[in-house]
Amino acid sequence: MKKQWWMETVGYQIYPRSYKDTNGDGIGDLPGIIEKLDYIAQLGVNLIWICPFYKSPMDDNGYDVSDFYTVDGLFGTLDDAKELIKQAHDRGIRVILDLVMNQTSDEHPWFVESRSSKDNPKRDWYIWQDGKYDKTGNMIPPNNWASFFEGSCWNYDEHTNQYYMKIFSNKMPDLNWENPKLRMAMAEMSKWWLDLGVDGFRVDAIAHLAKDTTFKDSTMNVKPGHYAPDWRKFSNRDRLFDYLAEFHDEVLAHYDCVTVGEVGGGAQVEEAERYAGYRTKGFNMVFNFDHCWKNGAFEDEGRTKGKLTTDVIDLKTTLERWILGSESKVWMPQYWLNHDHPRVVSQYGDIGEYHRVSAQMLGAVLLTLPGTPFIYNGEEIGMTNVDYESVDEFRDVWVRNFVPSARKRISEEQILTHLRRASRDNARTPMQWDDSENAGFTTGIPHLKTVGNYKTINVKNQQMDENSVLSMYKRLTQLRLNSDLKDVLIYGKFRLIQKEHPDIFAYRRYVDTDEVVMIANFRDTKVMFDFEYKKYDCVCSNFENSGSDFLPYEFRILRAKGV
Ligand code: NOJ
Ligand code: CA
Repeated sequence: MKKQWWMETVGYQIYPRSYKDTNGDGIGDLPGIIEKLDYIAQLGVNLIWICPFYKSPMDDNGYDVSDFYTVDGLFGTLDDAKELIKQAHDRGIRVILDLVMNQTSDEHPWFVESRSSKDNPKRDWYIWQDGKYDKTGNMIPPNNWASFFEGSCWNYDEHTNQYYMKIFSNKMPDLNWENPKLRMAMAEMSKWWLDLGVDGFRVDAIAHLAKDTTFKDSTMNVKPGHYAPDWRKFSNRDRLFDYLAEFHDEVLAHYDCVTVGEVGGGAQVEEAERYAGYRTKGFNMVFNFDHCWKNGAFEDEGRTKGKLTTDVIDLKTTLERWILGSESKVWMPQYWLNHDHPRVVSQYGDIGEYHRVSAQMLGAVLLTLPGTPFIYNGEEIGMTNVDYESVDEFRDVWVRNFVPSARKRISEEQILTHLRRASRDNARTPMQWDDSENAGFTTGIPHLKTVGNYKTINVKNQQMDENSVLSMYKRLTQLRLNSDLKDVLIYGKFRLIQKEHPDIFAYRRYVDTDEVVMIANFRDTKVMFDFEYKKYDCVCSNFENSGSDFLPYEFRILRAKGV
């Protein structure tokens, strides 16, 4: 493995819509990010990933792109984007954009052309199929595959009497990557942004570019009238790796850039190597989702009472499987959450008495794991899930599609509880800058309601408090990037300690003669952890404690003596 600059980065993901609004329209914008660059630099990160800000009708908040070359007016202008890149670079911060390759908006001129007639030259830039007929003669979708956003993955288009494929919302038709002209158009577009000065991409939904082009029904068992969530039909398929190698040769090989693909659920460690291995033509790393949802929040849509419990053994062994499986083969990104997941402190931490220490503990784990850590905006102050009282307060397209179908099987209370635990809006609320109205995010009406706890959980409060979550994140980024622990924390090997311990996540990181040990209590109770403490010095912790009894959510980063 050759050392690369992007291995020595800590990333910070920004959801522009909710970060900082500068013109009072209730929507965060690029000038807002520019305004906060000093804050971001002080946090100590040196890479930012900005979620899509291309022109879009915003059905899925920008993942439905209608023009890849234009900044949506809601977010600003292309000049703002250039200024943002320049000002970030001036502060030693690299900038990566979200590259959306699987689909466009149905309002993209390509699709407008494509749907106009069956013989339009852009027809096969998307995936069109004839419908089938059921026993009673009604037209039904070409097959029984489900979409990620409820219902069928096909949408009927009256104009030409065919269906187009859309694995997300109806307004997000999938592109046909079998078509070389489309592939070249995507390569051109990516080069255009790299030439403009961006340092790489987080590549959206990359696992889905190749589909099973037989389009045969899934044989998965589903109830009549339901669609089969058979994601293999359009995930991680062999053909995708041909597209990727071509994209690498056409685009990536010519730039000193970094690429992080989103491969999601279903991808195995071996596949990560195919996507991003040190010896493969592809990306530099890939996000998988396997360590998310280890408190059962996603599956558990019926439960309303009681707290969910983190399965610590499952969490750490899942991370271990990926980390050891990747060792000397592929570099990993690490993250607790992104804009598609709930807030981690609400999931694996505590939002009551132990809010501060549990958020600190989670930060300390993230920043001491192998790979490139990505902090999601607001995580550094311990922002929490929403406190909404009604289903109507949520905005996400996934929620809009989920609620009508959920109402057929569960109560309103169950839906609300489920959304408060699992909805993507949990991570999309306005960034909590201070205790003024709407958390200092906007002077207007925010696009999504601010979480009520902004009066106490906000940047301003935490900047003044050296014991805050924010101060801890700053200490941790320093430790990782600018201390004599840098080498061991970035390049050191990883081994779990007391793997079977049900409450504590503990591991060694070691390289040559240096060794760091991380011990983290994931419970809101005292937990015993026997260890050879005398051989180590504590370099960072959230409590003054050196015994073998770990306080609720206590963590300690220890370093072997005599190094
Ligand atoms: C993954 C993105 O992270 C998510 O927000 C989006 O809805 C889908 N891909 C579709 O682009
Ligand atoms: Ca704005």
